[in-house]
Amino acid sequence: HHAKLSDRFGRTIDYVRLSITDRCDFRCVYCMAEDMTFLPRQQVLTLEEIARVARTFVSLGTEKIRLTGGEPLVRKDILELVKEIGSYGLRDFAMTTNGSQLPIMAEPLRKAGLKRLNISLDSLDAEKFHRITRTGQLQQVLDGIDAAREAGFEGIKLNAVVMKGGNDHEVPELVEFARKKKVDITFIEEMPLGEISDHDRGQVLCTSDEVRKIITQHHELVPTPEDSGGPARYYRMPGSETRIGFISPHSHNFCSTCNRVRVTAEGRLLLCLGNEHSVDLRRVLRGYPVTNDKLRETIINAMDLKPERHEFSTNGEVQILRFMNMTGG
Ligand code: GTP
Ligand code: 5AD
Ligand code: SF4
Repeated sequence: HHAKLSDRFGRTIDYVRLSITDRCDFRCVYCMAEDMTFLPRQQVLTLEEIARVARTFVSLGTEKIRLTGGEPLVRKDILELVKEIGSYGLRDFAMTTNGSQLPIMAEPLRKAGLKRLNISLDSLDAEKFHRITRTGQLQQVLDGIDAAREAGFEGIKLNAVVMKGGNDHEVPELVEFARKKKVDITFIEEMPLGEISDHDRGQVLCTSDEVRKIITQHHELVPTPEDSGGPARYYRMPGSETRIGFISPHSHNFCSTCNRVRVTAEGRLLLCLGNEHSVDLRRVLRGYPVTNDKLRETIINAMDLKPERHEFSTNGEVQILRFMNMTGG
């Protein structure tokens, strides 16, 4: 019904990822420095501003919105925003979360209209989980996953960043866990975003090929034909509904079919995760007079800045200075 956004390379952009806070109750080693400083409140978009951005994208043909962080569930009054966006009648409305708040939040989120959840889970060993997240409690997240299953979401996917000598030996157990819980799981190659401390990315990068090899020692993996337009390539195991995805920014670029842009917590419209091209929407939102036309025009024109592709180095060298919690991945 709406004309859709498109870029210079003929890609249709109908998926927006909104980071609603840079804050998080975890400090995952691959995502943050231990002594992270967060944005001052007034630099972060208000929920009203976020809703306005969301509405504008929907008026420009966006069919899928994903809320990310930081950790989206640490944002106060998050349910109000979910209700608002849930009323837009989107084809897909999802959230990526660390799961810690799901024991209480899963059901209200579902009732507010959220359709899908991606939940990070890097380890099933409580001690290891705590070492990776620095502050996280495994049991809370496991309870959160169960609460999400009970709440009846349309889809639940687990995300595991695989680190050599870290959690790579747990890959088979994580697959079993996903099977048992009847949820999907994707294994992610770590991306060099943000200058992080005491964690050497070049040393621990575990490629999707390596992870796949571990899994095929236990299961047959049948590639699925459907292309999600997203970064993951999915496989099935015969006799199971669980899909196993691989996100391989180092070895497999999906850039040619990229359908997404993201808005950072402080309102920067980022055209590509692996590049710095961006446009300041906050300035437009807080300018005077603010008109919907001005916001629409800024977004439409920004599409011309979307780069053709990204290139991450495999030695862990950081080319992108912003931290992952600014973009929500
Ligand atoms: P859907 O495509 O919406 O199903 O979700 P997703 O798996 O892309 O989203 P999620 O938030 O669960 O992120 C999982 C991983 O994919 C994270 O490590 C993200 O950083 C990564 N990711 C998401 N979008 C992009 C992208 O455009 N490029 C690259 N290279 N990685 C991405
Ligand atoms: N590389 C790849 N994935 C990352 N995530 C966080 N930081 C990184 C990184 N440097 C993942 C989280 C979460 C998702 C939003 O992004 O594990 O599942
Ligand atoms: Fe928080 Fe997610 Fe970053 Fe971990 S990866 S510190 S849970 S934002």
